[in-house]
Amino acid sequence: MAGSLAVNAQVETVIDLEAIAHNVRILRAHAGDAAVMVVLKADGYNHGAVEVARTALAAGAAELGVTTVAEAVRLRAAGITAPILCWLNNSDADYAAAVAADIEIGVPSEDHLRAVAAAARGIRRTAIVTLKVDTGLNRNGIAPDEYPRVLATLRSLVDEGVVRLRAIFSHLAHADEPEHPFLDVQRDRFIEAIAAAKEYGLEPELTHLANSAATLTRPDLAFDMVRPGIAVYGLSPVPGLPDFGLRPAMTFQARVALVKRVAAGEGVSYGHQWLAPRDTTVALIPAGYADGVFRTMSGRFEVWLGGARRPNIGRVCMDQFVVDLGDNAAGVVEGDTAVLFGGGAGEPGAQDWADLLDTIHYEVVCAPKGRVVRRYVGEPA
Ligand SMILES: Cc1ncc(COP(=O)(O)O)c(C=O)c1O
Repeated sequence: MAGSLAVNAQVETVIDLEAIAHNVRILRAHAGDAAVMVVLKADGYNHGAVEVARTALAAGAAELGVTTVAEAVRLRAAGITAPILCWLNNSDADYAAAVAADIEIGVPSEDHLRAVAAAARGIRRTAIVTLKVDTGLNRNGIAPDEYPRVLATLRSLVDEGVVRLRAIFSHLAHADEPEHPFLDVQRDRFIEAIAAAKEYGLEPELTHLANSAATLTRPDLAFDMVRPGIAVYGLSPVPGLPDFGLRPAMTFQARVALVKRVAAGEGVSYGHQWLAPRDTTVALIPAGYADGVFRTMSGRFEVWLGGARRPNIGRVCMDQFVVDLGDNAAGVVEGDTAVLFGGGAGEPGAQDWADLLDTIHYEVVCAPKGRVVRRYVGEPA
């Protein structure tokens, strides 16, 4: 469980960097000879991209992956010198900034490739390019009918010295179902895409396909590098399987703002959705939907407080919700810490929220926002 709250932080996420380092070591062990690229998009899945990057690199990650140029530039500005790939940008993104900062650019079309080349020419630098090929996810990536054109264009840009081909990569559609036959289809299409590039004399330094789930369950898909995200943050990517020894890095918690008695028959919170069946004691938690506590969870979730699970009663509001302490035998007082989700014994986990919300834990860890203060513990010496 996380330590005590920083002065004045009513609601915070506590990020355990030792857990991040531990998870990276587990992923490295599964990756075998393949290098590990840690995925840091969306501010490190809302854990803080810079701090996670530093910790992951110290724990043996080789490269970093993000979506946008802006995310990548922010890592460079923080002094991170490791290879960084960004893979989801409009073609009018600030590619010049990426090229100037030696950031690898994933290109999903000929238009994007030409835009990268124009930026490189503009600042007289060679762009580092990675081809993002679509092998069946049909989301981001070069469509099969466009691929030969992209390869021909790339060939001439490489000859001109305007771009350097660093890698070819793709993304899986069914990685969280390790037995799904489409994984093999995508592997085969990926191998064909690499072979097609070689026919144009284009030799990638690296090829990569596997996200967290594939890294942990499909070593045959590791290629030269794996690209885990969610497992770095300690959440199991394959529901229903053991947790692979991963440790959740994020604890979402808040300090009790008020403890008081409520008489039998009284209603609690807007609309009085909950009526006290007996005299009871309640605790007010200063976190609401503006902080990432979903209103649809009203009356359906628990927090860890005073050594036990305490049920939410009444509606979750913008800034607060209430939990029932019964006779408050545990002696909960104002200022005590309530864990909304975390990884400690007894605490609700991000997966519990995901189950309640009919979503995935990825979305849950991205939820804390607004007033939530982020604090780090377990920093490597
Ligand atoms: C291209 C790409 N690679 C790797 C990842 C990491 O995936 P995961 O968090 O499932 O490991 C993502 C995330 O969705 C991604 O978009």
